[in-house]
Amino acid sequence: MTIQLPLASQSLIWQTVRNENPVAPEAREAILADPGFGNHFTDHMVDVCWSERGGWHRPRVSPYGPIQLDPAAAVLHYAQEIFEGLKAYRHADGSIWTFRPYENAARMQRSAHRLALPELPSEHFIASLKQLIAVDGDWVPTAPETSLYLRPFMFAKEAFLGVRPAKKVAYYLIASPAGAYFTGGVQPVNIWLSSEYARASKGGTGAAKTGGNYASSLLPQAEAYEHGCQQVLFLDEGKYLEELGGMNIVLVRKDGTLITPESESILEGITRDSVLRLAADRGHLIEQRKVTLDEWREGAASGDIVGAFACGTAAVIVPIGRLLGEDFEIVHNGPQAEELALSLREELTGIQYGRVEDRHGWLVRLDA
Ligand code: PLP
Ligand code: COI
Repeated sequence: MTIQLPLASQSLIWQTVRNENPVAPEAREAILADPGFGNHFTDHMVDVCWSERGGWHRPRVSPYGPIQLDPAAAVLHYAQEIFEGLKAYRHADGSIWTFRPYENAARMQRSAHRLALPELPSEHFIASLKQLIAVDGDWVPTAPETSLYLRPFMFAKEAFLGVRPAKKVAYYLIASPAGAYFTGGVQPVNIWLSSEYARASKGGTGAAKTGGNYASSLLPQAEAYEHGCQQVLFLDEGKYLEELGGMNIVLVRKDGTLITPESESILEGITRDSVLRLAADRGHLIEQRKVTLDEWREGAASGDIVGAFACGTAAVIVPIGRLLGEDFEIVHNGPQAEELALSLREELTGIQYGRVEDRHGWLVRLDA
């Protein structure tokens, strides 16, 4: 069944209400010097309303603060919600850029379709990023490997308890200065294989960036922490590699081939796509196909698979040192895969921060 949702594409007239009590410059600089991940928020936020009758309207930038919601708002009951994640990077000349934002806009539209939410046209998505940077540009950090994490999200705000797509929806954008996602920095991470829980299933919402997928990953993620691991790996149909709670996975073969899982229930990562293109440019063979856990175990045992890495916007690229399951362990401590992961990370972040030529035209300037 196709649900027809109006796709408003009229141009929007933005309004900005400045925060009268912004964080003091010294306090902001202290935050930017050591931002961590997801702890601090900028002085402003964006919101745009959508209604079935009026389409997208009332786009505005206003002081960051609590949202008033009716207790019957559908999102609180039926989780009709989606989000995105991308970053703003400060270049050496002070300018502010983001990376492949049209891909995030398109993915948000795909997520919206799956969650029966209205699709935000890409031009409004990009405009929202530029509007926020216009007032909060000072929040884009300058320290190496830091950035401003941009979190667009959309939810059903209509107060109605019947189960159907909401007729009133809100799009928001908030921003949070970011350093390393994992506290150890770019050290190899340990991954826990969840054999009891699945993240997604055929026909489900795995390919959409929707809160429910993350809610269902929290219990297995807690199990991962109990086992000394930082992330959890999920399987598809109990045997195929799928992805981690918040990142995609890539395996490295001795001959340099990169293998990454293909499945309709994986969130198609923009980082993964970019890294694989950079690797292909270097001459690596890329295989995107179904990969069984057994293939990884056997390949690791025979020496054909020399390592793996995780990739996503928040974590960028991080080598995987160990995969731990209930009754087995794969340990990768040779240098080949780790060196490759780190050199791809260096090239990708080099492009993002303007140190390396952007030969694919991936960067979009936000402050001009
Ligand atoms: N898979 C999941 C479940 C994620 O949450 C993310 C992060 O956004 C990714 C993969 C990687 O996607 P991207 O590289 O676009 O950030
Ligand atoms: C991202 O990388 O943007 C994500 O959404 C992952 C999340 C774990 C922070």
